[in-house]
Amino acid sequence: MTQQFPMVYLNGEYLPLDQAKVSVLDRGFLFGDGVYEVVPVYGGEPLRLASHLERLNDSLRGIRMASPLSASQWEAIFRRLIQGEQDQSIYLQITRGAAPKRDHAFPQGELAPTVFVMCTPITPAPATGVRAITLQDIRWQWCHIKAITLLANILLRQQAVDEGCAEAILIRDGYAIEGAASNLFAVVDGILLTPPKSQQILPGITRDLVVELAQSNAIPLEIRNIGEEELHRAEEIWVTSSTREVLPIVELDGKQIGMGEPGPAWQRMNELYQTLKTRLRKSV
Ligand code: PDD
Repeated sequence: MTQQFPMVYLNGEYLPLDQAKVSVLDRGFLFGDGVYEVVPVYGGEPLRLASHLERLNDSLRGIRMASPLSASQWEAIFRRLIQGEQDQSIYLQITRGAAPKRDHAFPQGELAPTVFVMCTPITPAPATGVRAITLQDIRWQWCHIKAITLLANILLRQQAVDEGCAEAILIRDGYAIEGAASNLFAVVDGILLTPPKSQQILPGITRDLVVELAQSNAIPLEIRNIGEEELHRAEEIWVTSSTREVLPIVELDGKQIGMGEPGPAWQRMNELYQTLKTRLRKSV
């Protein structure tokens, strides 16, 4: 039987994934010179699309690129690629394009950016919670830009996986700041904590949502730095992202968190998050 490939978007064309090709001179391939976004889609409807596109424009500005498409053009592409009602995520990537010659500095003159979009099913996270380890943050200093240059994140996540864990929680200057591909929440002395936005972390859209859900449901929340020691004595730890939603960590560095199972604050937040998804599905 021949394999069916999903349709993807590449530089103005819709084509099967196996036929989408880019130049080996693409600066994304040679240098990781580009940015990306991941947008979750429930019931065929992208969640917080405007916020994702706003962050994309911030990332583009951060690497001195203009947005190649308008919000309505992006949306039209996404709508063509979304595959039915299943939970899925849109992945989009923009690189500075293929220059005639490899040079670190930007090429002179106009260069057409490479624009790629695909949709992939989201696999639900285990409701039993996952394990994590803390690792020193070895990334660069502009982590607020959603850059495709993810080597440090990859090595950190792989170290976690090698140790039987699902995520690495990154420590910078004695503070737990975010995961290798997620934002961080901890419940300490009954208060939900999350680090403030800064250049050290990606301003997560799921993080914003969880903050809003806490605020509108009278869940005590403080946006402040979380010390490494504090993290280790937290009653609950969660990591959030567009593909993993609100994921409870039940073991950190080999030690049980709380009762070693997803805690009551997570149960509450997850319910609120799932309700929001159901409403989005019904709105279609
Ligand atoms: N990553 N921090 C980092 C470093 C991330 O890579 C991500 C998401 C987040 C969470 O952001 P959001 O809630 O907007 O998804 C935080 C995506 C999912 C990825 O790289 O696949």
